[in-house]
Amino acid sequence: MAVRGVLRSGGAVAGCAALMLAGAALLNLQGLMPASARDAGQGAGSRQHANTLYRQGKQVFRFDTFGDQAFWGGSLELHKAIEGEALGGVGPGVSPKTALAVGLKVDSTALPSSVKAALAAGKGDLDAPATTLALLKLNAVVGIKGFFNGKGQLRSIGVTCAVCHSTVDDSFAPGIGKRLDGWPNRDLNVGAIIALSPDLSHFTQLLGVDADTVRTVLHSWGPGKFDAELALDGKAFQPDGRSAATLIPPAYGMAGVNLHTYEGWGSIPYWNAFVANLEMGGIGNFFDSRLDDASRFPVAARAGLGHVTHSRDLITPKLPALQFYQLSLPAPKAPPGSFDPVAAERGEALFDGKATCSSCHMPPTYTDSGWNEHTPASICTDAFQADRGPDGMYRTTPLRGLLAHAKGGYYHDGRFADLLAVVNHYDSCFSLGLSPREKSDLVEFLKSI
Ligand code: HEC
Ligand code: HEC
Repeated sequence: MAVRGVLRSGGAVAGCAALMLAGAALLNLQGLMPASARDAGQGAGSRQHANTLYRQGKQVFRFDTFGDQAFWGGSLELHKAIEGEALGGVGPGVSPKTALAVGLKVDSTALPSSVKAALAAGKGDLDAPATTLALLKLNAVVGIKGFFNGKGQLRSIGVTCAVCHSTVDDSFAPGIGKRLDGWPNRDLNVGAIIALSPDLSHFTQLLGVDADTVRTVLHSWGPGKFDAELALDGKAFQPDGRSAATLIPPAYGMAGVNLHTYEGWGSIPYWNAFVANLEMGGIGNFFDSRLDDASRFPVAARAGLGHVTHSRDLITPKLPALQFYQLSLPAPKAPPGSFDPVAAERGEALFDGKATCSSCHMPPTYTDSGWNEHTPASICTDAFQADRGPDGMYRTTPLRGLLAHAKGGYYHDGRFADLLAVVNHYDSCFSLGLSPREKSDLVEFLKSI
């Protein structure tokens, strides 16, 4: 408007050449202005949009239960086991010591300084379930949300993404510190926690087995593991008798990665909808006709898990921000001193050359650029877990931040205890003929990525 106003007055003194020139310049400006103004506006607008998505996504990732308290509290009644009989629940209750022992983490930044001082002085009663309830009221237990009534009694409990995909830096005490979002919690014993539930009828009905069998399966998982496919195919054990559960993977370093999960189920928004609806028990809508295949996914097909509908959807509207936040999580950098830089440089040359690793693990994402799946045979491994996914393939694991999830081993089920074991596997699979020094150089590079 201001520009047009100036032009109009410029036109009114048309006899003045200087003003005519100025008018021409302004006219020219007018031709440019709308576009450049639009660009500037869009830049600011999209930055604001990005900031909003980031903020909302972080909130969802850390604190949103998607209404899954209807499952964890309402159906499993897990809150009663946490409370314990003395406080109106059942059993001995869950003390902070027990909670930490099953791998739950406490966000030290959510603790008031009085609580921190008491803990530091050894005064907080870490053996009392009442202390756990106090921590839940402070929203300090990572990934667990308590729902209290007006009298301060625990009435339900829900979980968030952070329970499995965040940990803490232990800066206050072991298990208590600042949040590390995206880091897999490899201490978390999901199976042992679910097994505390007074009512396992959801699982006995879904899987068609008794509660003792459900508990045996839950206890077979161990720390850092969860079985996302159990609710689809009902397979609890590998053919050799080992648990069918997989390691909780990192949720960082995912920008630029095509397919997600060990079995390549789909994109981030696909998998987030899958997990929130089918695993966490959130309330939303989910569609996947692949799960109608009763020969491959008998449990899912029977229960109609590929056709979940609710009139109130607490999941779908949150997927854009949740995806944005996940993509923003960088893989942690290997700290100086955690690897030998000179050996790592030699290892990188091997990774890209003689050892042929980068033919699949392509930098900078370290997964294939394009369709990132391979047959089990191409990496000399069995097909059990691949066959529990949609394509019978394994997705090439993005390798950044490997050191941050060393606990529990490598490959989907942790079959290789350390990186040298992985390298030895490839050495024989691809007949690489690596010398011991070349192997250790490769390991140093893997540690550095
Ligand atoms: C109970 C633990 C648990 C919870 C809760 C959980 N996840 Fe996962 N997540 C896993 C496991 C285990 C896998 C591997 C599944 C597979 O490959 O079959 C996985 C896989 C993933 C992946 C794929 C990573 C990759 O390497 O491609 C992403 C991304 C992810 N989860 C994000 C989320 C988000 C977001 C939420 C919340 C909506 C969530 N998860 C809730 C355990 C969990
Ligand atoms: C043919 C494609 C392919 C090639 C070549 C390949 N990988 Fe892999 N890599 C995979 C797949 C697929 C997985 C996932 C296996 C699983 O989880 O069962 C994987 C997993 C890994 C893992 C485990 C990551 C984790 O978090 O568990 C490491 C480490 C690894 N590869 C390193 C290497 C190295 C080093 C080389 C070269 C010697 C190499 N890879 C060559 C496809 C490949």
